[in-house]
Amino acid sequence: MTRGKLLYLETFGCQMNVSDSEKILTLLKGVGYKPTQDPSQADLVILNTCSVRAKAEEKVYNHLVQYKGLKRKKPGLILGVGGCVAQQEGVRLLANVPHLDIVFGTHNLHLLPEMVRAAEEGERLAEVAFIDNETRLDLFPVDDRTDGVSRFVTVMQGCDNFCTYCIVPYVRGREISRRSADVLDEISGMVEKGVMEVTLLGQNVNSYGAKAAGEMNFVSLLREVSKIRGIERIRFTTSHPKDFSRPLIDCFAEIPQLCGHIHLPAQSGSNAVLSAMNRGYTREEYLGSIALLRAACPGIQITGDIIVGFPGETEDDFRATLSLMEEVRYADVFSFIYSKRPETKAAGFTDEVGKDEKQERLDRLIVLQRRITLEINKGFVGTVQKVLIEGESRRGGQLFGRTSGNRIVNITADASLVGSMVDVVITRGYQNSLQGELVEE
Ligand code: 5AD
Ligand code: SF4
Repeated sequence: MTRGKLLYLETFGCQMNVSDSEKILTLLKGVGYKPTQDPSQADLVILNTCSVRAKAEEKVYNHLVQYKGLKRKKPGLILGVGGCVAQQEGVRLLANVPHLDIVFGTHNLHLLPEMVRAAEEGERLAEVAFIDNETRLDLFPVDDRTDGVSRFVTVMQGCDNFCTYCIVPYVRGREISRRSADVLDEISGMVEKGVMEVTLLGQNVNSYGAKAAGEMNFVSLLREVSKIRGIERIRFTTSHPKDFSRPLIDCFAEIPQLCGHIHLPAQSGSNAVLSAMNRGYTREEYLGSIALLRAACPGIQITGDIIVGFPGETEDDFRATLSLMEEVRYADVFSFIYSKRPETKAAGFTDEVGKDEKQERLDRLIVLQRRITLEINKGFVGTVQKVLIEGESRRGGQLFGRTSGNRIVNITADASLVGSMVDVVITRGYQNSLQGELVEE
């Protein structure tokens, strides 16, 4: 009996890449590859990469070096790189990394089965052409998984915002929305197979449908998703504050399944920096949206992204970011040191903040956010939360799930509860999670 061909897939970067990796697994299953957790067993290794910051990109090159040794031991091993670094570097990557066989861009996942077959015959090849038209929408493989209760569903790809620091528009191409009928069909199919929660995914979901003639907008899409029988929870990510409209805010009051959490990246609290970043909103507008959200959905948990050390950011600008964080009281913040990215407009800005200064600002920001997060988590103690139990916790003998507000909760309970929605009383608030106990009927 043959063991079949094994695929080791490493995913870097954002949720969009995680979602693409799920598609890669589905596509390669079709040509006989099964996933393995052990690279030394693999016949095919694929790195699905991120280039949003220089560090993410460096990581890819470090991993590629490691696979050189493996390939020497196992000459038949096929090595592929996909995702944003592949898109950015294209055929250069093949030239620079002699032990690499396949390079595929962010619009070329569907070509992978063919490319792998060619690589099995000894070819080395790169495909990074953008498909910036409707045909891209028909290239999605169908999600045929039957396990799990929570799914990400891509509703749009690409980005047209051109924030001055950001490489995404260059590596993911133009914004394109999937047809709402396809999205709704896919979600209906998932719910029939036991999925209870979906997260609608896109680089900028709020502008869903805006560029497709005759298509519904994001608010209508949310409302249609909520009408699917059996859907218990709806989330979406990522939102852009400039497109965060009043009708969308009203959804949080009106759609019962819409969860009480929003990821709304501010990036900075300084108007001068926001303008240099080409974000399209002011601090005051951002805080205005937060106030409306809190009125529509009391208790909503807000998370965000912040960049420190953008070119020209002064100490006063940075303090404005800290004060924004205190005003918003984020449940969590993903914070990043500004990283200069090729092709972006900000790469041409000269007024760079010093390396130590950037690090020092990041450290101050993290101290502040840790304090706020812990206060928020402790504030849940004594409350009863609806928790969707997703699986077994890394803490032995416990299960974990998430509240509507997307806080992680660990409970001691029987594994048969995985996949169910339960009431949990919160007993402890920690830095990264909550501890709870099942409310007995
Ligand atoms: N440098 C640092 N952080 C960045 N991000 C995007 N581009 C850069 C960059 N050049 C951050 C933003 C974004 C998150 C996904 O990554 O905060 O919201
Ligand atoms: Fe990284 Fe951006 Fe690509 Fe996601 S879209 S993998 S964050 S570069």
